[in-house]
Amino acid sequence: MATHAREYRWVRDGAVGAGRMRYGADYNPEQWSRDVWAEDMRLMREAGVNIVSLAIFSWALLEPRPGEFDFGWLDEVIDLLHENGIDVDLATATASPPAWLSQRHPEILPQTEDGTVLWPGARQHWRPTSPVFRTHALRLVRALAERYRDHPAIVAWHISNELGCHNLYDYSDDAAAAFRTWLRDRYGTLDALNEAWGTAFWSQHYTEWEQILPPRTAPTHRNPGQRLDFERFSSGAVRDHLRAEAAVLAELTPDIPFTTNFMVAQNVRDIDYPTWAGDVDFISNDHYLRPGELGRDDVSFWANLTGNIAEGRPWFLMEHAPSAVNWREVNPPKRPGELMRDALTHVGHGADAVCFFQWRQSRAGGERFHSGMVPHAGEHSRVFRDVAALGARLGELGAVTGSHRERARVALVFDYESWWVSGRDSHPSDALRYDDETLAWYRALLDLGVRADVVPVAASLDGYDIVVAPMLHVVPDALRTRLEHVVRSGRHLVTTAFSGIVDEHDRVWLGGYPGALREVLGVTVEEFVPLLADETARLASGAVATHWSERISHVADDVEVLDTYAAGDLAGMPAVTRRRVGAGSATYVSADTGRDGARAVLERLAGDIGALAGDPLAADGRLEVIVRVDAARRHVFVVNRTDDEVVVDDPELGALRVAPRGVETRSIPAQEPALAGAHGRMDA
Ligand code: GLA
Ligand code: GLA
Repeated sequence: MATHAREYRWVRDGAVGAGRMRYGADYNPEQWSRDVWAEDMRLMREAGVNIVSLAIFSWALLEPRPGEFDFGWLDEVIDLLHENGIDVDLATATASPPAWLSQRHPEILPQTEDGTVLWPGARQHWRPTSPVFRTHALRLVRALAERYRDHPAIVAWHISNELGCHNLYDYSDDAAAAFRTWLRDRYGTLDALNEAWGTAFWSQHYTEWEQILPPRTAPTHRNPGQRLDFERFSSGAVRDHLRAEAAVLAELTPDIPFTTNFMVAQNVRDIDYPTWAGDVDFISNDHYLRPGELGRDDVSFWANLTGNIAEGRPWFLMEHAPSAVNWREVNPPKRPGELMRDALTHVGHGADAVCFFQWRQSRAGGERFHSGMVPHAGEHSRVFRDVAALGARLGELGAVTGSHRERARVALVFDYESWWVSGRDSHPSDALRYDDETLAWYRALLDLGVRADVVPVAASLDGYDIVVAPMLHVVPDALRTRLEHVVRSGRHLVTTAFSGIVDEHDRVWLGGYPGALREVLGVTVEEFVPLLADETARLASGAVATHWSERISHVADDVEVLDTYAAGDLAGMPAVTRRRVGAGSATYVSADTGRDGARAVLERLAGDIGALAGDPLAADGRLEVIVRVDAARRHVFVVNRTDDEVVVDDPELGALRVAPRGVETRSIPAQEPALAGAHGRMDA
C-alpha cells in the first residue's frame, strides 16, 4: 500500500495551521429562488459558515445540452458567496448525469448482479468503467476547471460525490471486460487464477479469459475468491474514475487542492479507503450518526480511523447530519447536545473542517425529510440555534487547526477485507459481525479510559505497545509476519474468534484454526461452535458469550489459560488464552463475549501492560480523552460519553466540569514537541 503519494495540501487560504476552523455544508441553491439566496447569505454569516460545497448535483443545469454549458447562475452564486466572505469547495458536478446523457447513451447505466438496469430517476446511475460516461464527465470537469481556475472563492475541488455509494458494484459487460483486464494484470496466467480461486471446486475451471464474468447472480454460493477479487476490482474501478478527474484538475488548476468525500463507515459498499489516501490532496469523510446507545462511540471510532487513514494529519469532515436522516427505518432527531458533541469529537480526532449535509432542508425530492442546517421550520428553531452555537464554538478553536493526532500506545487494527469477507454467506454463523466486534473492543478500551488509535491494517504497527486485532479474518503471510514481529519484539497482541482463518484469496489455512495465527497464539482450534440465537456460553469468570464459541483442543506449553468454558459440551475447556514470548505476549479470546467481556480481558492484561492503565482524566471511562499536538502545544479534548455532568480535577488541566454530552477543550504547552508529526506511515 502506497503512502500518501501526493503532497498533502490543505484547502487554499494558506497552509495547515492557518488558524481558521472551516465550517459549512453542501449548498444546493439551484433548488431555491434568488430571494432565498439572499436569505441564505444572511443566515450563513449568522451561523459562522465560511465554506460550502457547491454544484454537487448540478450537471443537468450546467450542461443542459451536450457540450453546451450554462455557467451564468453558478457565476452569480459564487460571486455572492465571495462577497459574503464564504469560500467554495467546488464540485466537479459529475455525480448525477443529466437525462440527455442516459437517453443518448443507455450503455452508461449500471446493472445489478441479476442484470437489472439501474435507470435514471435517482442519482449516480453510471458505470464506473463506462468509457462513454468517462468522456462526458471529463469534458465537464475540464469546462469547470477552465471557467473557475482563477476565481478567488474556489479553495478546493470536490471530485464527484461519495464515489461508489450506489454504483460501486456494476455487473455489466463493461465491468466484465474491465474485470478480465484487471485479473490478467493480477494473475498473469489462467493457471494462477484457477489456483487462487480454487476452481477445482464445482467444475469452475477456466480455460479462456473470456469465460470469466463478474460474480453475477448464480444458483447458489458464488466462488469466494472471485467475489473478493471483484470487490477489490470494483473499489479500484471507482478509484480510477477519481484519478481520471484528478488528472484534469492537476493539469488545469495545480494550485487548487482536491478531495473526494469518503464514507469510511459504509457497511455494504466495499471500498478500501486506505488505498485511496494517496490519491487526494486531503482526506475528507462523511459520517452519519447511528441512533441509540452506541451512537456516540461509533462517531469516535470512525473519526479515529479517518484520522489514521490521513496518517495523523488534519482532515475535513465533509458531511454529517444536523439532525435526522431520512434513510433508516426510523429517523429520530439528534438529541440535545449531540450536534456539538459529535462535531467536536470529529475535531478532536483531527478534523479541521466541520460540514453538514446540507445547508437548507429541501422542499422536494427524495431527501425532503433529511435535516438541514436551516430546517423546514426556518431559523427560529432548535436546530438553527445549535448550528449557530457550533459555528461560534468552532470560531474559538482556530488554534487547533494544523495540529496532528498524538499517537496512542494502543492500536486497534481495522481491516476492510476482513469486514467484507467475514460478512459473506456460507460461513459457520451470520451473527458474528466484524464491525460490531471491532466497535465492542474500542468501547471496552474507552470504558477503561484507554486511548487507542484505530488504524488501517496496512499502517505501521511500530511503536504501539499493544495491538488489538479483533476478528482479523483475512491474514496473508505478510500480515502474519508483522503480527508475529509485534510479539517477538516484546510487545503485545490481542485477537479474537474467527481471526487468521483465510489467506488473501479467501482460502482456509490448514492444520487447525486460527490458521495463520495458530503458532503465535499457541492454540489449536478443531471446531467452531457457533451459538443459536437463544443460546449463550458461560465462562468461568462469569463472562457470557453470544453468537460464538470454539473447541480449543490444544494449547502449547507456554500458554496460560486465562478463562475456561463453564458449562455445556465445552465445559472445562480453554476459552481465553495468553502465550508469553519473552517480554511480549499473544492473547486469544475464542468466544464473542462483547464489550463487557472484552473489558474484563483488558483489565486482566492491564496488570502487566502499562499501556492499558486508564487515564485518570477519563473518569472511569465516563469521558473520552482525545489529544492533538503541534510543535508548541497539546490540544486536549474531553468528551462526556454520558448524559450526566462529570467533574474531574486534573493536575495539568485543572478542574473540569463537563456538561452532559458536553465537550471541554484545553490547550497546554507540549512536553515533547517531537511527537508532532511522528505519526506512523502506511507500510509500503
Ligand atoms: C450522502 C450524500 C449526500 C446526501 C446524504 C444524506 O452523504 O453524499 O448527498 O444524500 O448522504 O444523508
Ligand atoms: C447437497 C449437495 C452437495 C453439498 C451439500 C452441502 O447435498 O448435493 O454437493 O452441496 O448439499 O450440504
